[in-house]
Amino acid sequence: MTKTLFSRMRSLQWWVLIYMTFGVICDVPAQNASSHEWWKHAIIYEIYPRSFQDSNADGVGDLNGITQRMQYLQDLGVDAIWIAPMYPSPQVDFGYDISDYRNVDPQFGTIADFDRLVSEARKHRVAVIVDMVLNHTSDQHPWFVAAASARANPKHDWYVWSDGKRNANGDIVPPNNWQSVFGGSAWEWVPEVQQFYYHAYYKQQPDLNWRNPQVEKAMFDVMRFWLDRGVAGFRLDSISELFEDPRLRDAPRLEGLNALGNPQLDPGYTTNLPEIHETIRRMRAMVSAYPGDRVLIGEVYFPNIAELDKWYGGARHNEIQLPMDLPLGYLNELDANAFRKRLWEVYTQVHGSTPLLVFDNHDVNRSWDRYGDGVHNAAIAKLIAALLLTSRDTALLYQGQEIGQRTVEPRRIEDVKDPIGKIHWPVYKGRDGERTPMQWDSDDAQSGFSTSPHPWLPVPADYTTVNVRTELADPRSLLNWYKQLISLRRSNAAVRNGRVVMLDKTNANVLSYARVAKDGTAVLVALNMSAQPQSVSFHLSEANIRRSHLTNLMTSPEQDAGSSSVSPVRLAPFGVWIEAVE
Ligand code: NOJ
Repeated sequence: MTKTLFSRMRSLQWWVLIYMTFGVICDVPAQNASSHEWWKHAIIYEIYPRSFQDSNADGVGDLNGITQRMQYLQDLGVDAIWIAPMYPSPQVDFGYDISDYRNVDPQFGTIADFDRLVSEARKHRVAVIVDMVLNHTSDQHPWFVAAASARANPKHDWYVWSDGKRNANGDIVPPNNWQSVFGGSAWEWVPEVQQFYYHAYYKQQPDLNWRNPQVEKAMFDVMRFWLDRGVAGFRLDSISELFEDPRLRDAPRLEGLNALGNPQLDPGYTTNLPEIHETIRRMRAMVSAYPGDRVLIGEVYFPNIAELDKWYGGARHNEIQLPMDLPLGYLNELDANAFRKRLWEVYTQVHGSTPLLVFDNHDVNRSWDRYGDGVHNAAIAKLIAALLLTSRDTALLYQGQEIGQRTVEPRRIEDVKDPIGKIHWPVYKGRDGERTPMQWDSDDAQSGFSTSPHPWLPVPADYTTVNVRTELADPRSLLNWYKQLISLRRSNAAVRNGRVVMLDKTNANVLSYARVAKDGTAVLVALNMSAQPQSVSFHLSEANIRRSHLTNLMTSPEQDAGSSSVSPVRLAPFGVWIEAVE
């Protein structure tokens, strides 16, 4: 399955989007990034702690492992790491089911290890962002245990309950047709209180009731706890789902089935309810009261760019600084027109806010496989990297993306770790494929991830060639390509913060744009999104670029290293050409 559960289940609204007509003059201004707005051109690196580095030989990655690899992160050039949940948890959803928001799960370390990680990261000029799961807790969290014990318990109203309704046979059934993202009804019966509770995800992840002000207070206190420990911000998990329709109305049926074979439902009663924005504005005000411009990153799903704009707070810019533009990274097809159109929409329709471009994370098959055509995957991976790091967007990359790790799915159901993979096998094999251990070296079968012979997920067999150490030694490797791009983005004013001018705007095969700095210097980028060689010509004066001295900065494949001419530029299949204009 090349597309993932997450992208497929939530993509329907996207595939039916009617895009706005592409603008004639494709030129958007630079962002006004002050030094306080460090996140505006940052490179953020997602760490899935179970799979990054094991420091105590138990086969599971941990916080001390991340600390050990801090030099690698600094050398790569990332500004911040986002660490997926490391809090105490029964690990049903591998940490996204939290049972204590103010501690660290023993398998990942201790709170002292966390403090040490933050302080080491600071020495390496890497900011630490933590995941914050606000939509739901674990069913083992003391709040839920209390809530489920009696209707009269003060915590009862902290979750979303319903008495259900009677069906034709007189049986009590869930109040509506809402479905869990992971399949089946989103309602679970609790005999002790004779009610159903709502869970957008697994039944072990009951949804909190954000209409109760005590919930907001408790969760903001939790966020303060981590802000006080020095975190640079939060990645807000499933934040679009914070509120549900208070009348619990049935979701209208849409055409077709989702990836799990369940009916496709209109998400309007469970996702993106307008009430969320008031909560987020209060959250932003609370977080912004801290020094250092702490950042909110949102895992948001949205039906159109106007809804994305709302996540930023529109013209007021007072909500989430970086809602993820997941639909762009999940286009899953190299289509120059589609990328041009979507990039342009987001550059022009979010009141100058900063898009956050994401191709990879722990929920989707790796971009190597989603975008690869089976023949040119290595060239395509370099192209994706170039787009990610020369665009005007803040860039998010996921561990292993920089070395070209593949999606390696379990072969047998008994090997599956992600529960949805077991439930839906073989239609959907879960998310283990994109969560395999980081491949550091080729010394032994654990590839430097662990000294345990039994890592929690097996290290993929290609570790002998696809690993950090081997790629560092190869000037043409994907890893060195990433490092060069990151250093270009850090050092070149045009790439870092220049305005964007779309070039050659009707070319269906090649996406080209210029980043133009205030002093008029520019960087031209041409990405051949086709399997055929392409030739493109640029007329810089039409793009208002007055300079004319050209220097080739980067080219892929390397043997094609660029003629410093813009008429024409020849691009190999899936080739990349990056040129300075001074
Ligand atoms: C999104 C997370 O990325 C995913 O891993 C998790 O299963 C759900 N939210 C539920 O928390």
